[in-house]
Amino acid sequence: MTEDAAGRSESRRVADVCVVGSGGREHALALALAKSGAEVVCCPGTPGMGAYPVSDRIRCSSLPPEAMAADLFMVGPEAPLVQGLADRLREGGRRVVGPGAQGARLEGSKLWMKQVASEAGVPTAAWAAFDSAEAAVAHVRRQPPPYVVKADGLAGGKGVLVTASLADAEADIVAKLSGRAFGNAGRVVLIEEPLEGPELSVLALCDGSRAIPFPAARDAKRLGDGDQGPNTGGMGAFSPVPDAGEQVVDEVMDRCVEPTLSALANRGIDYRGVLYAGCILTADGPKLIEFNVRMGDPEAQVVLTRMGGDLVDLFGQAADGRLRSSARVEGESAVCVVLASHGYPERPRRGDPVPSPEAVAGLAGVTVLQAGTGLDSEGALVTDGGRVLDVVGTGTDVAEARERAYAAVERLAWRGSVWRSDIAAGFQGSRGGPDSGEDRT
Ligand code: AMP
Ligand code: GLY
Repeated sequence: MTEDAAGRSESRRVADVCVVGSGGREHALALALAKSGAEVVCCPGTPGMGAYPVSDRIRCSSLPPEAMAADLFMVGPEAPLVQGLADRLREGGRRVVGPGAQGARLEGSKLWMKQVASEAGVPTAAWAAFDSAEAAVAHVRRQPPPYVVKADGLAGGKGVLVTASLADAEADIVAKLSGRAFGNAGRVVLIEEPLEGPELSVLALCDGSRAIPFPAARDAKRLGDGDQGPNTGGMGAFSPVPDAGEQVVDEVMDRCVEPTLSALANRGIDYRGVLYAGCILTADGPKLIEFNVRMGDPEAQVVLTRMGGDLVDLFGQAADGRLRSSARVEGESAVCVVLASHGYPERPRRGDPVPSPEAVAGLAGVTVLQAGTGLDSEGALVTDGGRVLDVVGTGTDVAEARERAYAAVERLAWRGSVWRSDIAAGFQGSRGGPDSGEDRT
């Protein structure tokens, strides 16, 4: 460490980019930046990522991000953003992709998000917020099914119940408001109007005043095939989304992202980072169901795989508040299938042996990203979290990318692993790239 004239500690430069976080999204970010020529350090990354980084430009460090010296910081997960990591890094003079604590409240409090969205005129599901179980239960009893019950605070993607059962909705309200389900994150609940339609994730890179979209993606939130079972962090994703063209993305940018960015700016919030608009494509057009303040996991795995151009430069422009370029999409389609631990999402089992990526050597168009893998005493991969491996297939269309991903999944699935067999099912010959109108160069 050295000290500058102002007495600030400055460690020796260790990498071009520091990616903060430890999951498959962070591995995808690191890989995309490495492909743009950057030396990347993942903070902390995972033992599995350290052992199988895919690129020799990627390494992991257990030092805190504040102790790293890099030209650019990309914060992967929401929790450190909500806790003000981006503010602390900026105070130390660092260039950061990721909003400060104030902007991160868009994800940290669904109630606050709804208030900002209403002020900005963003189309969202009708809602009511409660901190008393009695009032919330009385409210759902007046609604027709299905019921949508959301924890206000951060819940790892698992804080939303959508159910046709009034009894389940009431039990969920009590579990959340009592603090039993999600601690303080559930002390306020939102009851929302149920929306119908396919979902779409639009990830926009923002520089405080301007926003540009990445290619759209769709994720699979439920654990089981056919969208059955509990909500998870995300069991798979694909991009492009053949039933949602450029016009839908433009609509989401015009009606959701840009007005919100302006509403934040009006409140004095300089939002530099990724703003993820989770939408349902209703018969009345796209409606926002959530904002995330970072890239989605596993959307990032497919979106970044498809990106061309110099991503280090593009993210740097956002960090500097001076976005000039657009996101450049290369022609390939991408499909990500998540392999999760036995017992996910409630009680993921740790320590189960996981095949090494060498099992898919020789398969074309496949990348294996380490999400929740650890190493046993012999250095072999084992499960060490809920979502364990992200298998990304690429191809000229979604169908080919899907075939390639699943060919790899067949070789990598271990005893007890949990994965969906219907990610990106049902699309034939859907090409991405310039002919889908996605090339925004
Ligand atoms: P969220 O964490 O807000 O994205 O919600 C998780 C999942 O719950 C979403 O991906 C949707 O499938 C579902 N969901 C959330 N809000 C609604 C809503 N208002 N109507 C119908 N489904 C919803
Ligand atoms: N894939 C949804 C999320 O990252 O929250």
